[in-house]
Amino acid sequence: MKDKKFDILVVGELNVDLILNNIQTFPKIGTEIIADQMTITLGSSSAIFASNVSVLGAKVAFVGEIGNDNFGKLVLDSLQQKNVDTNYIKISQVAKTGASIILNYQEDRAIVTHPGAMEDLTCADVSEEMLKSAKHLHVSSVFLQPGIKKCLTNLFKRAKDAGLTTSLDVQWDPQEKWDIDFEKLLPFVDVFLPNKQEIKAITKKDNIENAIDKLSQYANIIAVKMGNEGSIGFQNNKIINVPPFLNKNVVDAIGAGDSFNAGFIFSFIHNKRLQECLQLGNLTGAINTTAAGGTTAFASLEAVKKTAIEQFNFIIN
Ligand SMILES: Nc1ncnc2c1ncn2[C@@H]1O[C@H](COP(=O)(O)OP(=O)(O)OP(=O)(O)O)[C@@H](O)[C@H]1O
Ligand SMILES: [Mg+2]
Repeated sequence: MKDKKFDILVVGELNVDLILNNIQTFPKIGTEIIADQMTITLGSSSAIFASNVSVLGAKVAFVGEIGNDNFGKLVLDSLQQKNVDTNYIKISQVAKTGASIILNYQEDRAIVTHPGAMEDLTCADVSEEMLKSAKHLHVSSVFLQPGIKKCLTNLFKRAKDAGLTTSLDVQWDPQEKWDIDFEKLLPFVDVFLPNKQEIKAITKKDNIENAIDKLSQYANIIAVKMGNEGSIGFQNNKIINVPPFLNKNVVDAIGAGDSFNAGFIFSFIHNKRLQECLQLGNLTGAINTTAAGGTTAFASLEAVKKTAIEQFNFIIN
């Protein structure tokens, strides 16, 4: 393939997470409580994927939508700091940048999300020129993006027609309707990346083997994320299980799936075999769990390599 400006074009949602920790008690209507600790950080599955695959060494551009506000500026700064190109990000003059307010209380949490501008992005915002600037298209979190969901099959078809390879992580459907025509869509998706709950919900099957069997009639590669059990891959009528890199001191698993996608797709665009793609995905998923949130463990490539060797006895070349 002739030289393209970007390795990966990510189409996805953008938001900030405002995380309140150590709250005294759960808030009751008409009262005020204190949270002893607060973090404001880049949220969104697509942005975590883009940041972390960029740190691994891919040239990444992002197509998304934010508001003309301070949270939007935080989103842009965070992506740019990780070398993700933000020139294709649209700035709405009407909608606000999406935000999730997360209240952590003991082992439990409550989240209020304002989707804002992410709901306004449509496939028309992804131009032919943008598609042609990259070798690979990755789309995530489609149920949070109604404007993308309704034209998803066409977007993937356009990408394939333009010569790109493609991947998709639909993420959970908060409405649990799973109203996408997967039979029409998946032939245009080279790598489908559900987790174990999602693939069962999509296929209405109660075990992974039957779920994969159903999708295998029209899917290409399937990589199923299995949490602390690693991952399962499907290609050419063969299923393989790849064991996890066990982390006994998990800080949290926020973004582990997105970091798995980053490792898998980084290997995939370098033409690695399925086994190797799953293995690097398991490694980057495990590295994600060694620090808070989805991007902290991916501060730099040096930091990722250091964690890989010191905690998981694995050398990243
Ligand atoms: N406790 C753990 N120890 C080691 N590896 C883990 C652990 N949890 C997750 N992983 C790795 O990360 C991958 C992705 O995690 P998971 O299955 O939780 O994805 P997900 O459900 O899509 O997550 P997300 O909530 O980020 O969307 C797993 O396939 C596994 O390789
Ligand atoms: Mg996921």
